[in-house]
Amino acid sequence: MHERPIDVEHVDHRYVIAIDGPAAAGKTTVARRLADRIGALLFDTGALYRAVALIALQTGVAPTDAIGLAAIARSAAVEVRPPSCRDGRLYDVWLDGRDITWDLRAPEVGAIVSEVAEHREVREALLPLQRKIASGAAVVMVGRDIGTVVVPDAGLKIYLDASPEERARRRFREAALRGGTETLAEVARETMHRDQIDRSREAAPLRAAPDAERVFTDNLEVDDVVAIVERLARDRHIAFAESRSRS
Ligand code: CDP
Repeated sequence: MHERPIDVEHVDHRYVIAIDGPAAAGKTTVARRLADRIGALLFDTGALYRAVALIALQTGVAPTDAIGLAAIARSAAVEVRPPSCRDGRLYDVWLDGRDITWDLRAPEVGAIVSEVAEHREVREALLPLQRKIASGAAVVMVGRDIGTVVVPDAGLKIYLDASPEERARRRFREAALRGGTETLAEVARETMHRDQIDRSREAAPLRAAPDAERVFTDNLEVDDVVAIVERLARDRHIAFAESRSRS
């Protein structure tokens, strides 16, 4: 994750779609379908924070050790790639030649990732890579601070939200499908705990950019949300593939 800094002021970000929002709001699911429909890449920045948390767990670096965590963030060779198989994943994450896609979703990682992401040092260490990705082709970037900090001049900014109950239900169903054994109450506690830390931290807290389009998804199907965001993208001429009928 060691990259040269990019001068954010002089890069054209009109083909970047920033999708921010709280835990389990459906950001990545929507982003995957949207990216495929409009011919853009998907980059889920949460994978980077989760990878730092996973490596910290594996190497015994404490979630309070800002310097140690930032060193991990700077040096880890994490790669995010298109999905290599159809097991429910939306993308692949590899570390040192090993597929860590599902390891990143382990409850142990979820339990500390927001503490890890709170440190300014960690966030700064992950910024150059995120900005580099934003400076390339059309990309849908998912996170907490994409529209506010990483790419504040993105061509389209979305803030995707849903009630805490609905988000917990969605995350619980997802985890259960993969054989997860957490209860709905445990999942609800974990997502709310992360939201609380993500919203109240000093460095790049979770919030909607002032000019973000807010989409509240409690009563919407995924395809409905994708259609809303796709329309907004096409209105802004951020689309490189023809509209396809829904399958
Ligand atoms: O998938 P889910 O919404 O549950 O979480 P995620 O996107 O994988 O992000 C995991 C955690 O990483 C978040 O709860 C944040 O603490 C942190 N994160 C962040 O601080 N900034 C980002 N741009 C993305 C993730």
